[in-house]
Amino acid sequence: MTTSKIIAISGSLRADSHNTLLLRAAQKFDPGSAEIEIYDGLREIPPYDQDLDNPEQRPAVVNDLRRRVLEADGLLIATPEFNYSIPGALKNAIDWLSTDFTGTEGQPLSRKPTAVMGAAPTNFGSVRAQLALRQVFVWTESDIVVKPEVVVFRSHERFDAEGNLTDETTIALLQDLLTALHRKIAVARAARVG
Ligand SMILES: Cc1cc2nc3c(=O)[nH]c(=O)nc-3n(C[C@H](O)[C@H](O)[C@H](O)COP(=O)(O)O)c2cc1C
Repeated sequence: MTTSKIIAISGSLRADSHNTLLLRAAQKFDPGSAEIEIYDGLREIPPYDQDLDNPEQRPAVVNDLRRRVLEADGLLIATPEFNYSIPGALKNAIDWLSTDFTGTEGQPLSRKPTAVMGAAPTNFGSVRAQLALRQVFVWTESDIVVKPEVVVFRSHERFDAEGNLTDETTIALLQDLLTALHRKIAVARAARVG
């Protein structure tokens, strides 16, 4: 069986980010043994500029991110909530991933099997940011996992001192989300082959 490749993006740049820890937990607890690569270049992505949005003029980091997402079988996002919405750095990267003005490169997010989750130490667990993200993925025509919703509220209570996810409920939910993502990846792969 071909191993699927999932690119994982954390919406937080913080070194001790709970959302990045959630992605590490996805690597550890994945029931489908995918290769989950955590993207670490979000900080370097410049502000979106449509004048530069073509293969020749895009910043190299942006072309690199677009290529990685295009080549990946799936996308996994863990996002915090900033001021009731998507963190700017993450939304900016998504904007760069949402276009194909040449009509030849492929729009990286189009039909991409995509799963969203999020964590926050508040009682709301990034739920509003996740809803905003789901709205974005309508426009991009991403193949978004609808359920389960993984809303990790009071996130500071769910990891140990080493940053391992220890909360059994969250681990089970995370595994259900990954299983649903794997299912979408399998369907997309079968459609390509068929
Ligand atoms: C600028 C800013 C805005 C925030 N706004 C919200 C918010 O609207 N809702 C919320 O639940 N938490 C909010 N928080 C708290 C974040 O959820 C918290 O910092 C979270 O841990 C960030 O995720 P991370 O651990 O992955 O860095 C905000 C934090 C910052 C720095």
